[in-house]
Amino acid sequence: MKIAMIGTGYVGLVSGVCFSDFGHEVVCVDNNPAKIDELQAGRVPIYEPGLEALMNQNVAAGRLSFTGDLAEAVQGTEAVFIAVGTPTRRGDGHADLTYVMAAAEQVAQVATGPLVIVTKSTVPIGTNRQVQAVVAAANPDLDFDVASNPEFLREGAAIEDFMKPDRVVVGVQSPRAAEIMSEIYRPLYLRDFPIIVTDLESAEMIKYAANAFLATKITFINEIAALCEKLGADIKQVSKGMGMDQRIGKHFLHAGPGYGGSCFPKDTRALARIGQENACPMQITEAVIKINDEVKRRMVEKLHMLCDGSFNGKKVAVLGVTFKPNTDDMRDAPALTIIPALVGGGAQVRVNDPQGQREGEALLPGVLWLDSPYRAAEDADLLVILTEWNEFRALDLKRIASSMTHPRLADLRNIYNGTVASEAGFEAYESIGRAGL
Ligand code: NAD
Ligand code: UGA
Repeated sequence: MKIAMIGTGYVGLVSGVCFSDFGHEVVCVDNNPAKIDELQAGRVPIYEPGLEALMNQNVAAGRLSFTGDLAEAVQGTEAVFIAVGTPTRRGDGHADLTYVMAAAEQVAQVATGPLVIVTKSTVPIGTNRQVQAVVAAANPDLDFDVASNPEFLREGAAIEDFMKPDRVVVGVQSPRAAEIMSEIYRPLYLRDFPIIVTDLESAEMIKYAANAFLATKITFINEIAALCEKLGADIKQVSKGMGMDQRIGKHFLHAGPGYGGSCFPKDTRALARIGQENACPMQITEAVIKINDEVKRRMVEKLHMLCDGSFNGKKVAVLGVTFKPNTDDMRDAPALTIIPALVGGGAQVRVNDPQGQREGEALLPGVLWLDSPYRAAEDADLLVILTEWNEFRALDLKRIASSMTHPRLADLRNIYNGTVASEAGFEAYESIGRAGL
């Protein structure tokens, strides 16, 4: 099958590469010429483990190509996927559909049909019908269907998530669209990965409900962690004990500095907005958004306390700035709240992140970037672990503690513990939802 993928970001590129790996002929298009140049040169412009190798394999096999020309990409395709951004719209918290609607109009202008226009971007309930109306208005003679195909991959594990999904969700309103979508996903279906076919609105709702639920689960455990700190319980044991109940499940119960990323923050905001507009407030989601902001502020207070009540003149080393490990994505990362608070309070901030510097430099003015965690920690008054990259899990803590002016550790991802920190020579250790040192 011939497929066009509009948008070569975290979702579009992974989806395009994986569809081509299924054996489909895929043309990926982006209106950012710099991205297309990189991709045509065989380089992936983002950091996603395994993606560059899989991409080049499929390019070499002749199934995958890149272009900046949407008309060329859409020519003769049976399915066009829209995988462009839907960021928070300034001012009202709604998802900004400008890019989705612009892409739909551009497709309408060049498509010859018959084809199915598939929205992969996360979009508010009712958007696929709007896409349908926009395309029909722009090209009344076009023979087309629309389909909603929300994506559930996680950055850092994107290929694995795409190739081995818990489920694929497809929202359609015609048997023809359902048929094309099952053809596209047949390799997964044949390997027994479930495909759930729904109406358009339910597919759109599943995506928002799933993300809001996961954000709620994280926020719930972060709230319990705060109480654990007050009462002497250990959040790691609590999470484990809760997660063993199959009705609860062990995933997404890691307490931390608050969820971040390109999706949970914007999708919870959009869902809250949709609820308000429909006189059906999403009260739990609204509370989650508020509490997650408070969690990040609580982290700043924790660091403040570890710096004896003042950041002024303190050297603070921060390990990890991306919103999670194995990505270079900085969108809504807790680091964007915590580091400016340190800098604003007069701290000298020294940062190390395996992939975060490229995006982080512009977003975090006034910090010094170091190429190793050990160099970042030299002479520091406080070491903060903000993202749990694997390379931070087995640090030589003794070496670090002995190189610091004041060996104090804020482990905001609970990857070490008080005993380990104390044995390494740290005089203070704070983590999340556990007794400190
Ligand atoms: P992104 O910002 O990384 O990529 C979007 C790309 O689309 C950019 O490269 C941009 O240049 C391109 N683009 C925009 N308008 C275009 C047009 N008219 N023609 C061609 N290219 C165009 O975004 P992303 O993180 O991949 O997210 C895309 C969508 O997928 C969002 O709705 C998001 O909520 C959803 N989603 C993201 C993830 C994730 O992990 N990032 C996971 C699931 C769903
Ligand atoms: C999330 C969802 O997991 C994906 O299913 C979804 O497709 C995607 O959003 C999206 O819609 O874009 P992602 O944002 O890549 O994926 O990363 P997650 O692993 O979900 O982590 C999100 C945030 O929650 C991170 O800041 C992470 O540190 C935090 N988190 C996650 C916790 O604090 N505790 C946990 O137990 C899990």
